[in-house]
Amino acid sequence: MVVLVTGANGQLGQAIQFVAGKYSTIDFVFCNSSELDITNLVQCKAVFDQYKPNFCVNTAAYTAVDKAESEPEKAFAINTNGAENLALTCKEFDTILLHISTDFVFDAYFLNGKAFYDRELRLPLKSGLGLRETDVPFPTGIYGLTKLQGEQVIQGTWEKHFIIRTSWVYSQFGNNFIKTMLRLASEKDSLSVVNDQIGTPTNAVDLSEALIKIILSFNVGHSKLFGIYNFSNEGKCTWYDFAKEIFRINNIQINLKPIETKEYPTPAKRPKYSVLDKTKIKTIFGIKINDWRDSLSVCLQQLKKYNEI
Ligand SMILES: NC(=O)c1ccc[n+]([C@@H]2O[C@H](COP(=O)([O-])OP(=O)(O)OC[C@H]3O[C@@H](n4cnc5c(N)ncnc54)[C@H](OP(=O)(O)O)[C@@H]3O)[C@@H](O)[C@H]2O)c1
Repeated sequence: MVVLVTGANGQLGQAIQFVAGKYSTIDFVFCNSSELDITNLVQCKAVFDQYKPNFCVNTAAYTAVDKAESEPEKAFAINTNGAENLALTCKEFDTILLHISTDFVFDAYFLNGKAFYDRELRLPLKSGLGLRETDVPFPTGIYGLTKLQGEQVIQGTWEKHFIIRTSWVYSQFGNNFIKTMLRLASEKDSLSVVNDQIGTPTNAVDLSEALIKIILSFNVGHSKLFGIYNFSNEGKCTWYDFAKEIFRINNIQINLKPIETKEYPTPAKRPKYSVLDKTKIKTIFGIKINDWRDSLSVCLQQLKKYNEI
């Protein structure tokens, strides 16, 4: 079985490479952005023609959430047109597409102990476990819009797809919130972190294992299962809680202050509530999901092991 992974040098791409060795029945083909630029349809087809993949995992994306506000064309080219190119190519080569999407397709928020997912209509979330795959998306920023339109072009182009929405991704690879917190803690005595956005961190290694589990458990009889799935770690926290746990595990003493989003303005608006309900992926694929604290601890151990901290 051949599994082609785009965006191989990104955080998730590297995490998939990290676990790939455990799966001897899969021939992984890892393509970085110069080997496979997903905005280039001709190149997509040439690479697929060379490897004839059974599955394509699209981790390639424009992920600079704030920068997307000032360069929307580039974000659309990668997240929407790139996704369409892959869907068209997958259709031509009968390849199953696993595409990664985001909690930023929503703009949910929490008010008086209840979560709502639409600022205009104020619709309450139906599931107490978080946003479900069937909740109506409502992106407010360019990044979220480009990712939602990426989902939609895939849905309209090629039925054999899995769209996996995830949130707050970190890992021992690339740049992410953990590494930023650890760097800042080495430079400063005090730190202010937003405490009114609720979500769930996701270890990219856990996400990688979940993607491979979907691939390995897939058979032709599963064709009705294509569609959108949520995946993050279990539990929920704020960015402040997340930072606090990083420092607790690593025994770092720092004056950590909780602040409100309005005290830390950013070009792109962040969802206030990003918790994803994982019932569907757990039920259908039997995926067991770790609590975010446990997975954070594993990642911090990995960073120590490779002397990155
Ligand atoms: N990070 C998060 O917190 C988060 C949260 C929710 C969802 N997600 C989604 O999860 C997925 C993986 O994210 P990540 O954190 O691994 O992102 P990442 O670290 O930014 O990696 C993205 C990769 O995509 C590559 N890329 C950019 N343009 C490309 C193109 N035209 N063709 C091929 N590759 C291209 C980049 O390569 P270059 O470096 O060479 O440009 C980079 O290696 C994305 O779909 C993202 O939207 C991420």
